Amino acid sequence: MLLIRYRVSSVWLILTGGAVGVLDHYLRWAAPALDAATTIWLGGEEMPIYLDHTIVPATDKEASARFFAKIFGLEYKGPWGHFAPVKVNETLSLDFDNREVIEHHHYAFIVSDEEFDAILDRVKGEGLAYGSGPRQDDMQINHLHTGRGFYFNDPNGHRLEVITHTYI
Ligand SMILES: [Fe+2]
Repeated sequence: MLLIRYRVSSVWLILTGGAVGVLDHYLRWAAPALDAATTIWLGGEEMPIYLDHTIVPATDKEASARFFAKIFGLEYKGPWGHFAPVKVNETLSLDFDNREVIEHHHYAFIVSDEEFDAILDRVKGEGLAYGSGPRQDDMQINHLHTGRGFYFNDPNGHRLEVITHTYI
């Protein structure tokens, strides 16, 4: 941003014939507006960072995608290239892909209270083991972090976590 400010300020300096005092005054009072204006002027756009997609290793990518979509109340629309993607929300897709060796990952999802109840019901309906902690299937949920949460495994041994409130 400093570079942008310098560039525009240089133009201002030339236009004013080297009026350094005016420039100082201008920068002190107009810097915030100048930053915003030059950001727009240069076509810049402030965007938050978000996770767009990640590859989930699977022994059977399509079966894994169907499992995940079913439990989470989402839709698996079929393969895309060699991936079996499931769109989780507007920004994130999980791209299931076959691997010879599966390294077990952990994926945690924030859901609403209604979604939590529905997902837990589906986990129970499928007869899956679940638990209140990352390493125990005690068939209980937890009430940590001012919310509710539980864990269960997908068919590949990935530990999935469903929580209604983030840790931090
Ligand atoms: Fe976690």
